[in-house]
Amino acid sequence: MQAAKMTRAQYGVLIAAMALAAAALVWMGQSPDPAAASQAQPPTQGHHAPPPTKGSETFQFTYPDQKRLPAELVFDPTPPPPPPKDKKVHEYTLVVEEGVEHEVAPGIKIAAWTFNGQVPGPILRGREGDVMRITLVNKGTQPHTIHFHGVHPAQMDGVFELVPPGGSFTYEFVANPYGVFPYHCHSNPASKHIHNGLYGMMIIDPREDRPPMRELSMVMSAFDLDRDGDADFYAWNGRAFQYADHPIDLQQGEPVRMYVLNIFEEMMAPHIHGNMFQLYRSGTSTKPHELTDVVSLGIAERAILEFKYDYPGPYMFQCHFSEHMELGLMGWFRVNGTEKKADASPAKPAAAAGHAGH
Ligand code: CU
Ligand code: CU
Repeated sequence: MQAAKMTRAQYGVLIAAMALAAAALVWMGQSPDPAAASQAQPPTQGHHAPPPTKGSETFQFTYPDQKRLPAELVFDPTPPPPPPKDKKVHEYTLVVEEGVEHEVAPGIKIAAWTFNGQVPGPILRGREGDVMRITLVNKGTQPHTIHFHGVHPAQMDGVFELVPPGGSFTYEFVANPYGVFPYHCHSNPASKHIHNGLYGMMIIDPREDRPPMRELSMVMSAFDLDRDGDADFYAWNGRAFQYADHPIDLQQGEPVRMYVLNIFEEMMAPHIHGNMFQLYRSGTSTKPHELTDVVSLGIAERAILEFKYDYPGPYMFQCHFSEHMELGLMGWFRVNGTEKKADASPAKPAAAAGHAGH
Protein backbone atom coordinates (compact mmCIF):
# COMPACT_ATOMS: atom_id res chain seq x y z
CA MET A 1 0.00 0.00 0.00
CA GLN A 2 1.48 3.32 -1.07
CA ALA A 3 0.56 6.29 1.05
CA ALA A 4 0.79 8.66 -1.90
CA LYS A 5 -2.04 6.90 -3.63
CA MET A 6 -4.37 6.62 -0.65
CA THR A 7 -7.76 8.13 -1.03
CA ARG A 8 -9.43 10.07 1.73
CA ALA A 9 -11.69 7.07 2.35
CA GLN A 10 -8.68 4.79 2.69
CA TYR A 11 -7.15 7.16 5.23
CA GLY A 12 -10.40 7.02 7.12
CA VAL A 13 -10.29 3.24 7.23
CA LEU A 14 -6.64 3.30 8.33
CA ILE A 15 -7.31 5.78 11.14
CA ALA A 16 -10.30 3.77 12.28
CA ALA A 17 -8.24 0.57 12.27
CA MET A 18 -5.51 2.24 14.32
CA ALA A 19 -8.04 3.54 16.81
CA LEU A 20 -9.52 0.07 17.07
CA ALA A 21 -6.09 -1.45 17.68
CA ALA A 22 -5.36 1.10 20.40
CA ALA A 23 -8.71 0.42 22.02
CA ALA A 24 -8.01 -3.32 21.90
CA LEU A 25 -4.76 -2.78 23.78
CA VAL A 26 -6.50 -0.79 26.47
CA TRP A 27 -9.25 -3.37 26.62
CA MET A 28 -6.69 -6.15 27.09
CA GLY A 29 -5.51 -4.34 30.19
CA GLN A 30 -1.94 -4.74 29.05
CA SER A 31 0.47 -3.52 31.68
CA PRO A 32 2.69 -0.60 30.76
CA ASP A 33 5.66 -2.79 31.53
CA PRO A 34 8.45 -1.77 29.14
CA ALA A 35 9.22 -5.44 28.52
CA ALA A 36 5.63 -5.91 27.40
CA ALA A 37 5.80 -2.84 25.26
CA SER A 38 8.86 -4.24 23.55
CA GLN A 39 6.64 -7.06 22.30
CA ALA A 40 4.59 -4.59 20.33
CA GLN A 41 6.49 -4.16 17.13
CA PRO A 42 5.47 -2.08 14.16
CA PRO A 43 3.86 -4.09 11.41
CA THR A 44 6.15 -5.02 8.58
CA GLN A 45 5.46 -6.23 5.11
CA GLY A 46 3.86 -9.66 4.87
CA HIS A 47 2.07 -11.59 7.57
CA HIS A 48 4.99 -12.22 9.85
CA ALA A 49 6.78 -9.72 12.01
CA PRO A 50 10.56 -10.02 12.14
CA PRO A 51 11.87 -12.89 14.29
CA PRO A 52 11.46 -12.10 17.99
CA THR A 53 14.70 -10.68 19.24
CA LYS A 54 14.03 -8.43 22.20
CA GLY A 55 11.32 -10.74 23.48
CA SER A 56 13.34 -13.91 23.30
CA GLU A 57 16.42 -12.21 24.76
CA THR A 58 14.38 -10.89 27.65
CA PHE A 59 12.45 -14.03 28.34
CA GLN A 60 14.79 -16.90 27.57
CA PHE A 61 14.73 -19.47 30.33
CA THR A 62 17.90 -17.88 31.66
CA TYR A 63 15.89 -14.86 32.74
CA PRO A 64 16.92 -13.26 36.04
CA ASP A 65 15.50 -14.48 39.32
CA GLN A 66 13.41 -11.45 40.06
CA LYS A 67 11.28 -12.09 37.01
CA ARG A 68 10.40 -15.63 37.93
CA LEU A 69 6.89 -16.78 38.50
CA PRO A 70 5.93 -17.32 42.12
CA ALA A 71 5.45 -21.00 42.93
CA GLU A 72 1.79 -20.49 43.79
CA LEU A 73 1.07 -19.44 40.20
CA VAL A 74 2.40 -22.65 38.69
CA PHE A 75 -0.31 -24.73 37.03
CA ASP A 76 -0.39 -28.20 38.61
CA PRO A 77 0.08 -30.52 35.60
CA THR A 78 -1.30 -33.54 37.48
CA PRO A 79 -4.71 -34.51 36.10
CA PRO A 80 -7.40 -35.91 38.37
CA PRO A 81 -6.97 -39.70 38.73
CA PRO A 82 -9.02 -42.07 36.54
CA PRO A 83 -12.56 -42.05 37.95
CA PRO A 84 -13.79 -45.08 39.91
CA LYS A 85 -15.49 -47.58 37.59
CA ASP A 86 -18.77 -47.57 39.51
CA LYS A 87 -19.10 -43.81 39.20
CA LYS A 88 -21.42 -43.45 36.23
CA VAL A 89 -21.91 -39.68 36.17
CA HIS A 90 -19.08 -37.16 36.11
CA GLU A 91 -20.16 -33.67 37.10
CA TYR A 92 -18.25 -30.43 36.73
CA THR A 93 -19.14 -26.76 36.99
CA LEU A 94 -17.25 -24.27 34.87
CA VAL A 95 -17.69 -20.61 35.77
CA VAL A 96 -16.81 -18.11 33.06
CA GLU A 97 -15.37 -14.76 34.09
CA GLU A 98 -13.89 -12.00 31.97
CA GLY A 99 -11.01 -9.69 32.86
CA VAL A 100 -9.26 -12.11 35.20
CA GLU A 101 -5.66 -11.10 35.79
CA HIS A 102 -3.40 -13.78 34.37
CA GLU A 103 0.38 -13.59 34.58
CA VAL A 104 1.26 -15.12 31.25
CA ALA A 105 5.02 -14.67 31.65
CA PRO A 106 7.11 -13.33 34.48
CA GLY A 107 5.86 -9.78 35.08
CA ILE A 108 3.48 -9.80 32.11
CA LYS A 109 -0.17 -9.70 33.11
CA ILE A 110 -3.15 -9.90 30.82
CA ALA A 111 -6.89 -9.64 31.35
CA ALA A 112 -7.91 -13.21 30.54
CA TRP A 113 -11.30 -14.82 30.11
CA THR A 114 -11.33 -17.92 32.23
CA PHE A 115 -13.08 -21.13 33.16
CA ASN A 116 -12.91 -21.25 36.97
CA GLY A 117 -10.39 -18.43 37.10
CA GLN A 118 -7.57 -20.26 35.32
CA VAL A 119 -5.93 -20.66 31.92
CA PRO A 120 -6.23 -23.36 30.73
CA GLY A 121 -9.50 -24.37 32.35
CA PRO A 122 -9.71 -27.31 34.72
CA ILE A 123 -8.80 -30.78 33.46
CA LEU A 124 -12.07 -32.71 33.11
CA ARG A 125 -12.01 -36.48 33.37
CA GLY A 126 -14.58 -39.17 32.75
CA ARG A 127 -14.87 -42.69 31.45
CA GLU A 128 -16.04 -44.13 28.15
CA GLY A 129 -19.77 -44.89 28.30
CA ASP A 130 -20.40 -42.74 31.39
CA VAL A 131 -22.40 -39.54 31.55
CA MET A 132 -20.52 -36.25 31.46
CA ARG A 133 -22.61 -33.49 33.07
CA ILE A 134 -20.95 -30.11 32.84
CA THR A 135 -22.65 -26.92 33.94
CA LEU A 136 -21.55 -23.60 32.49
CA VAL A 137 -22.20 -20.57 34.71
CA ASN A 138 -21.73 -17.30 32.87
CA LYS A 139 -20.52 -14.51 35.14
CA GLY A 140 -19.28 -12.49 32.18
CA THR A 141 -20.80 -9.66 30.22
CA GLN A 142 -21.39 -11.52 26.98
CA PRO A 143 -22.68 -14.89 25.85
CA HIS A 144 -20.43 -17.92 26.22
CA THR A 145 -20.66 -21.63 25.53
CA ILE A 146 -18.64 -24.80 25.92
CA HIS A 147 -17.96 -26.83 22.83
CA PHE A 148 -16.58 -30.31 23.51
CA HIS A 149 -14.88 -32.46 20.92
CA GLY A 150 -16.14 -36.04 20.76
CA VAL A 151 -19.45 -37.67 19.92
CA HIS A 152 -22.64 -36.03 21.26
CA PRO A 153 -26.08 -34.75 20.17
CA ALA A 154 -26.28 -31.45 18.25
CA GLN A 155 -27.94 -29.61 21.13
CA MET A 156 -24.94 -30.43 23.33
CA ASP A 157 -22.42 -29.12 20.82
CA GLY A 158 -21.98 -25.69 22.36
CA VAL A 159 -22.64 -23.74 19.20
CA PHE A 160 -26.34 -22.82 19.34
CA GLU A 161 -27.12 -22.68 23.03
CA LEU A 162 -25.43 -19.36 23.80
CA VAL A 163 -25.48 -18.86 27.54
CA PRO A 164 -26.31 -15.23 28.29
CA PRO A 165 -24.59 -13.18 31.01
CA GLY A 166 -25.97 -14.32 34.35
CA GLY A 167 -27.25 -17.53 32.82
CA SER A 168 -26.23 -21.15 33.03
CA PHE A 169 -26.57 -24.29 30.94
CA THR A 170 -25.87 -27.94 31.65
CA TYR A 171 -24.26 -30.00 28.91
CA GLU A 172 -24.89 -33.71 29.20
CA PHE A 173 -23.65 -36.48 26.95
CA VAL A 174 -22.35 -40.02 27.07
CA ALA A 175 -18.57 -39.93 26.86
CA ASN A 176 -17.60 -41.55 23.61
CA PRO A 177 -15.08 -42.60 22.47
CA TYR A 178 -12.23 -42.65 25.00
CA GLY A 179 -9.32 -40.35 24.29
CA VAL A 180 -8.02 -36.85 24.88
CA PHE A 181 -10.26 -33.96 23.83
CA PRO A 182 -10.21 -30.19 23.78
CA TYR A 183 -13.07 -28.12 25.10
CA HIS A 184 -13.46 -24.43 24.42
CA CYS A 185 -15.93 -21.60 24.14
CA HIS A 186 -17.59 -21.36 20.73
CA SER A 187 -19.29 -18.00 21.13
CA ASN A 188 -18.71 -15.46 18.36
CA PRO A 189 -16.06 -14.50 17.56
CA ALA A 190 -14.66 -17.86 18.64
CA SER A 191 -11.10 -16.76 17.88
CA LYS A 192 -11.40 -14.06 20.54
CA HIS A 193 -13.13 -16.26 23.11
CA ILE A 194 -10.58 -19.03 22.70
CA HIS A 195 -7.57 -16.76 22.47
CA ASN A 196 -8.59 -14.95 25.65
CA GLY A 197 -8.27 -18.19 27.57
CA LEU A 198 -11.52 -20.16 27.35
CA TYR A 199 -10.11 -23.63 26.66
CA GLY A 200 -9.05 -26.78 28.41
CA MET A 201 -8.50 -30.53 28.21
CA MET A 202 -10.91 -33.39 28.78
CA ILE A 203 -9.60 -36.91 29.35
CA ILE A 204 -11.92 -39.85 28.75
CA ASP A 205 -10.55 -43.13 30.07
CA PRO A 206 -11.22 -46.46 28.39
CA ARG A 207 -13.51 -48.92 30.25
CA GLU A 208 -10.40 -50.87 31.23
CA ASP A 209 -7.88 -48.53 32.79
CA ARG A 210 -4.60 -47.86 31.10
CA PRO A 211 -1.68 -49.17 33.21
CA PRO A 212 -1.27 -46.90 36.23
CA MET A 213 1.52 -44.35 35.79
CA ARG A 214 2.63 -40.96 36.92
CA GLU A 215 0.45 -38.65 34.83
CA LEU A 216 0.95 -35.16 33.45
CA SER A 217 -1.44 -32.99 31.48
CA MET A 218 -0.05 -30.31 29.16
CA VAL A 219 -1.99 -27.80 27.09
CA MET A 220 0.07 -25.96 24.48
CA SER A 221 -1.14 -22.46 23.70
CA ALA A 222 0.06 -18.97 22.93
CA PHE A 223 -0.79 -15.35 23.66
CA ASP A 224 -0.77 -12.49 21.18
CA LEU A 225 -0.76 -9.50 23.49
CA ASP A 226 -0.84 -6.77 20.87
CA ARG A 227 -3.09 -8.71 18.47
CA ASP A 228 -0.77 -8.18 15.54
CA GLY A 229 -1.21 -11.77 14.42
CA ASP A 230 2.09 -12.93 15.91
CA ALA A 231 2.02 -14.58 19.31
CA ASP A 232 4.22 -12.95 21.93
CA PHE A 233 4.33 -15.84 24.39
CA TYR A 234 3.92 -19.59 24.12
CA ALA A 235 3.21 -21.78 27.07
CA TRP A 236 2.74 -25.18 28.58
CA ASN A 237 -0.44 -24.83 30.65
CA GLY A 238 -0.91 -21.10 30.27
CA ARG A 239 2.31 -19.53 31.59
CA ALA A 240 5.54 -19.12 29.67
CA PHE A 241 8.53 -20.81 31.31
CA GLN A 242 6.67 -21.92 34.42
CA TYR A 243 8.21 -25.40 34.39
CA ALA A 244 11.62 -23.92 33.70
CA ASP A 245 11.67 -22.12 37.00
CA HIS A 246 9.72 -24.88 38.71
CA PRO A 247 10.94 -28.12 37.12
CA ILE A 248 8.75 -31.20 37.22
CA ASP A 249 10.33 -33.88 39.40
CA LEU A 250 10.41 -37.39 37.98
CA GLN A 251 12.03 -40.56 39.25
CA GLN A 252 14.58 -42.49 37.24
CA GLY A 253 12.75 -45.46 35.68
CA GLU A 254 9.34 -44.09 36.63
CA PRO A 255 6.74 -44.65 33.87
CA VAL A 256 5.17 -41.35 32.84
CA ARG A 257 2.05 -40.69 30.78
CA MET A 258 1.79 -37.19 29.39
CA TYR A 259 -1.45 -35.95 27.84
CA VAL A 260 -0.72 -33.18 25.33
CA LEU A 261 -3.11 -30.86 23.50
CA ASN A 262 -2.38 -28.06 21.03
CA ILE A 263 -5.12 -25.44 21.26
CA PHE A 264 -3.32 -22.67 19.36
CA GLU A 265 -3.69 -21.89 15.65
CA GLU A 266 -0.20 -22.96 14.68
CA MET A 267 1.54 -26.28 14.36
CA MET A 268 3.21 -27.45 17.56
CA ALA A 269 5.85 -30.12 17.94
CA PRO A 270 6.12 -31.47 21.49
CA HIS A 271 9.55 -32.99 22.02
CA ILE A 272 11.25 -34.50 25.04
CA HIS A 273 15.02 -34.58 25.47
CA GLY A 274 17.20 -37.59 26.16
CA ASN A 275 14.37 -39.98 25.56
CA MET A 276 11.79 -41.53 23.27
CA PHE A 277 8.09 -41.94 23.90
CA GLN A 278 5.32 -44.27 22.83
CA LEU A 279 2.86 -42.17 20.88
CA TYR A 280 -0.91 -42.69 21.11
CA ARG A 281 -2.48 -40.28 18.63
CA SER A 282 -5.62 -38.62 20.00
CA GLY A 283 -5.46 -41.11 22.88
CA THR A 284 -8.09 -43.19 21.07
CA SER A 285 -6.14 -46.43 21.12
CA THR A 286 -4.47 -48.41 23.88
CA LYS A 287 -1.85 -49.62 21.42
CA PRO A 288 0.94 -47.17 20.58
CA HIS A 289 1.24 -45.91 17.02
CA GLU A 290 4.91 -45.14 17.08
CA LEU A 291 8.08 -44.87 19.13
CA THR A 292 9.49 -41.40 18.57
CA ASP A 293 10.75 -38.30 20.35
CA VAL A 294 8.74 -35.62 18.59
CA VAL A 295 5.26 -35.35 17.11
CA SER A 296 3.59 -32.61 15.09
CA LEU A 297 0.21 -31.50 16.37
CA GLY A 298 -1.98 -29.22 14.27
CA ILE A 299 -4.60 -27.06 15.91
CA ALA A 300 -6.80 -28.98 18.37
CA GLU A 301 -4.79 -32.17 17.83
CA ARG A 302 -3.68 -34.09 20.88
CA ALA A 303 -1.78 -37.18 21.89
CA ILE A 304 -0.64 -39.31 24.77
CA LEU A 305 3.11 -39.73 25.23
CA GLU A 306 4.44 -42.51 27.45
CA PHE A 307 8.06 -42.70 28.53
CA LYS A 308 10.47 -43.32 31.35
CA TYR A 309 13.92 -41.91 31.93
CA ASP A 310 16.87 -44.29 32.10
CA TYR A 311 19.29 -41.69 33.39
CA PRO A 312 18.99 -39.02 36.09
CA GLY A 313 19.45 -35.36 35.36
CA PRO A 314 17.66 -32.33 33.97
CA TYR A 315 15.95 -32.80 30.61
CA MET A 316 14.16 -30.20 28.58
CA PHE A 317 10.65 -30.78 27.28
CA GLN A 318 9.76 -28.26 24.65
CA CYS A 319 8.01 -27.41 21.45
CA HIS A 320 10.56 -28.05 18.72
CA PHE A 321 9.63 -24.84 16.90
CA SER A 322 12.54 -22.78 18.19
CA GLU A 323 10.54 -19.58 18.34
CA HIS A 324 7.86 -21.25 20.45
CA MET A 325 10.50 -22.61 22.81
CA GLU A 326 12.25 -19.26 23.09
CA LEU A 327 8.98 -17.54 23.88
CA GLY A 328 8.02 -19.90 26.67
CA LEU A 329 7.14 -23.36 25.43
CA MET A 330 9.80 -25.23 27.35
CA GLY A 331 10.36 -26.66 30.79
CA TRP A 332 12.54 -29.08 32.71
CA PHE A 333 12.00 -32.61 33.89
CA ARG A 334 14.25 -33.09 36.89
CA VAL A 335 14.85 -36.82 36.86
CA ASN A 336 15.98 -37.93 40.28
CA GLY A 337 18.28 -40.91 40.48
CA THR A 338 17.19 -44.05 42.27
CA GLU A 339 20.73 -44.60 43.52
CA LYS A 340 21.80 -42.83 46.64
CA LYS A 341 23.67 -39.58 46.29
CA ALA A 342 22.70 -39.21 42.65
CA ASP A 343 22.52 -35.51 42.12
CA ALA A 344 19.87 -34.86 39.52
CA SER A 345 19.16 -31.27 40.32
CA PRO A 346 19.37 -28.92 37.37
CA ALA A 347 21.44 -26.65 39.54
CA LYS A 348 22.28 -24.37 36.65
CA PRO A 349 19.62 -24.61 33.99
CA ALA A 350 21.19 -21.48 32.53
CA ALA A 351 24.33 -23.47 31.74
CA ALA A 352 22.29 -25.69 29.46
CA ALA A 353 20.92 -22.78 27.51
CA GLY A 354 23.47 -23.16 24.74
CA HIS A 355 22.20 -26.65 24.03
CA ALA A 356 18.57 -25.73 23.95
CA GLY A 357 16.55 -27.14 21.18
CA HIS A 358 18.12 -30.51 20.52
CU1 CU B 1 -16.98 -17.13 25.32
CU1 CU C 1 -12.63 -27.15 18.71
